[in-house]
Amino acid sequence: MTKFRVTYATLSADNEDLHTAYEQGLAIAKDWLGADLTGFVGGKPLSGQETFTITSPGDAALTLCTVHSTTAAEVDAAVSTAADAVQAWSGRPWQERVDILMRAADLISERSNELAALMSMEVGKNRLEALGDVEESADLIRYYCKQYSDNDGFVRPMDQLSDAERTTSVLRPYGVWGVISPFNFPMALAAGPAGGALVAGNTVVLKPSPQGTFTAVKLYECLQDAGLPGEVMQLIPGGDEVGRALVKHPGVNGLTFTGSFAAGMEIYRSFPTPFPKPVVCEMGGKNPAIVSAKADLPTAIAGIARSAFGFSGQKCSACSRVYVERAVYDDFVAGLAVRAGELKVGDATARDVFVGPVVNDESVARFTDAVAHASSVGKVVAGGEVIEGRYVQPTVVTDLPAGDRLLTDELFVPFVAVQPVDSLDEALTLANATELGLTAGFFSADDAEVDYFLDRIEAGVVYVNRAAGATTGAWPGVQPFGGWKGSGSSGKAGGGLYYVQQFLREQSRTVVS
Ligand code: ALA
Repeated sequence: MTKFRVTYATLSADNEDLHTAYEQGLAIAKDWLGADLTGFVGGKPLSGQETFTITSPGDAALTLCTVHSTTAAEVDAAVSTAADAVQAWSGRPWQERVDILMRAADLISERSNELAALMSMEVGKNRLEALGDVEESADLIRYYCKQYSDNDGFVRPMDQLSDAERTTSVLRPYGVWGVISPFNFPMALAAGPAGGALVAGNTVVLKPSPQGTFTAVKLYECLQDAGLPGEVMQLIPGGDEVGRALVKHPGVNGLTFTGSFAAGMEIYRSFPTPFPKPVVCEMGGKNPAIVSAKADLPTAIAGIARSAFGFSGQKCSACSRVYVERAVYDDFVAGLAVRAGELKVGDATARDVFVGPVVNDESVARFTDAVAHASSVGKVVAGGEVIEGRYVQPTVVTDLPAGDRLLTDELFVPFVAVQPVDSLDEALTLANATELGLTAGFFSADDAEVDYFLDRIEAGVVYVNRAAGATTGAWPGVQPFGGWKGSGSSGKAGGGLYYVQQFLREQSRTVVS
């Protein structure tokens, strides 16, 4: 096995070592196929009678595994096991929790090639994106451990009113956290929230997306192999009914969810609250990019193509709307159309593929509906075809009427709408005219315009002049990642300075001697 190690710096399509290592990982991951997977409570496998199978999005004939769904009684057992474990886990010195989680991060990194290859087969993420997802998982955990260490375990002496009285501020865990993770970052968006909750001393019940369950089981194995006590983290696979049972369970003290706006709002409203409990929902995006007349167009085209079509547009951070000043509009559209046509679509495990399949038949239907609608009210200038099965072409549309649904609804397919604007002000008004506010991009060589954009754009994660991704590609500890408005409920961004604190509540301890 090659010694190649993925990092943000080595994550390059030209890196031969990366491809060799990924292919070795693919051979290992293929040996895992056909597994009969269960959830775990207290470190023991569940029996769950009902099963579902996971097939590869790009190849319906490739069955990856069978999964036993968690029963209602098992969800109950998961929450009560997690509740019973809170005292012991939170009572351990925080350094011990950090040590276990740092070991887990190292195991994720060591296994990154096979984990990424499995992810490519399970959700259709290409080599680089899958390796990035895995390494992001490890780095999120490392970052939260670092936050804990940098803050000395969040124990701080306060001012004293007298010599006899000493007060300490201590951040304490809430107890049991439910973590509901999505298919599109099946490892990073399970590992990040679970890692944050765990290092803070909470215990966790993880409910992965059905189409990300195999990857979640492998993440669970890394945590167990690192020494996480079995009762500290439970894994409960299944569909919406399992998620709903977790959300409605009165024993859950806090919840993180990553997924659609509609599902997030349902959770936000239905989390039972005899008293307020923390709910952290990371929801969708309808992320805009603005291209000024003063932009470097090749940079703008490269960055927007990457963000609109990377992982087939199935990132919450994907760029789906572009507002371009008229002076450069025609050149931009022509350039983006050429770039869309150059991107290779195909099997996500293949070396030169940029765009893998979309995840399911509903995504294909959403794509064909969007193309049909765009053809009738505007123009399709690149792509627009279903190649076969779940492989669809990167698509660019123009000339949509103002306020068209394709400019407001999240599509989660490789589909971007481009509209001309007369000014930066008009672009900003249109960019901000949605209920979502996750990411945004801007391209301009004019510093004054850049400042103007930064002070007015309503989004949690913004990028300027970024060819590596106009709206995508946040990295832990570098770009804190969280949405404004309907894109996120907490205001504390993943991989950012304040994330771990949301799994903690402050206790003021005054002792008189
Ligand atoms: N880190 C991922 C991105 O920014 C979520 O696209």
